[in-house]
Amino acid sequence: MIYTAETYMAKIDALNPDPQAMSLAAQVINSGGLVAFPTETVYGLGANAFNTQAVERIFEVKERPANDPVIVHIAEMYQLNDIAINIPSIVDKLTDVFWPGALTLILHRSEQIPDSVTAGQDTVAVRMPSHPIAQSLIRQSGVPIAAPSANRFSRPSPTSAVHVMHDLAGRVDVVLDGGNTHIGVESTIIELTSAVPTMLRPGGIALEELRQYLPSLAFRPQHILEDETAPAPGTLLKHYSPNAEMLVYTGDNDEAVWQEMRRQAQTLLDKGRKVGIMVLDDDVMRFEGVIAQYVMLGHDVEAMAATLFSGMRELDAAEVDVIMVRAPQQVGLGLAIFDRLKRAAEGNIINC
Ligand code: TXA
Ligand code: MG
Repeated sequence: MIYTAETYMAKIDALNPDPQAMSLAAQVINSGGLVAFPTETVYGLGANAFNTQAVERIFEVKERPANDPVIVHIAEMYQLNDIAINIPSIVDKLTDVFWPGALTLILHRSEQIPDSVTAGQDTVAVRMPSHPIAQSLIRQSGVPIAAPSANRFSRPSPTSAVHVMHDLAGRVDVVLDGGNTHIGVESTIIELTSAVPTMLRPGGIALEELRQYLPSLAFRPQHILEDETAPAPGTLLKHYSPNAEMLVYTGDNDEAVWQEMRRQAQTLLDKGRKVGIMVLDDDVMRFEGVIAQYVMLGHDVEAMAATLFSGMRELDAAEVDVIMVRAPQQVGLGLAIFDRLKRAAEGNIINC
């Protein structure tokens, strides 16, 4: 297919979106167009969720398989009733506490939602984002907005408008540039349609926080190998991948981990390979004398989440052959970071 869209990029004040600019973007949604917009997690690629053709275009431009359903974004609670049916009572509590925010709920779908959104399943994913630009776009267009992350399929999710343009320029109508996204990893997805509520994707809201309100919440990470048949859509292990090979290191013994990373980095460098290292600011001294390309991840897991995907893209642009990174502890936001690293590394975790 030939992409002829002229992509219009508009800078928008993230705290106080200009109503006129937002109204133009909403008109594009209402006429069946595609608008990329910032959310507090990552940028989304939005279309009117009730417009089958517009939603199908999302799949085309992303090169996303049609069996991978997308999330429907709303701005007001009443919109939930247009999208989902048989809503369990726990949803009141969860939405009170976590919406607007980085929590996506899988519920039974209403008939108004086209098959293209849900990949023909009888469930639908819904989220109310907190980002003012996302909220304004949904309000002004007056419809729920179906939106996956605004990257090409299997590329790292976009946390800036530049990332979106890199992947989708010429394929979408409008990109709303609201600067860098705050959280940097996608929303947490929990399924509320089966007997046991289950977290399908760790994300911006921590499992521990959710369990305060939903103690029975199970965690079943949806990882499978790429060459297996997917049991559920969107669960392929290979995802969020940079072009470079990712090496992810784990282990409780700090000294052992740093020593192994240093040793492997040096071995690769000696073979003439270009090495990228993503590292927390306080740990960079562990690599003294190792002549690699560095991406600083900040001081804590929040900063790490916010810079993770842009770091992968930066090192890809520098054309490194290998990206090395130490995984954080798998608690809080660290669980989401570990999940993204594991997928980017296609499961290749080195335990020291
Ligand atoms: O933070 C986010 O969630 C971002 C922003 C834009 O909201 N969106 C996002 O969308 O990450 P996407 O399409 O990249 O990831 C959504 C995931 C996919 O893995 C998809 O398979 C899953 O949600 N999903 C959507 N509907 C589902 C359903 N009915 N049942 C199970 N999984 C579903
Ligand atoms: Mg995605």
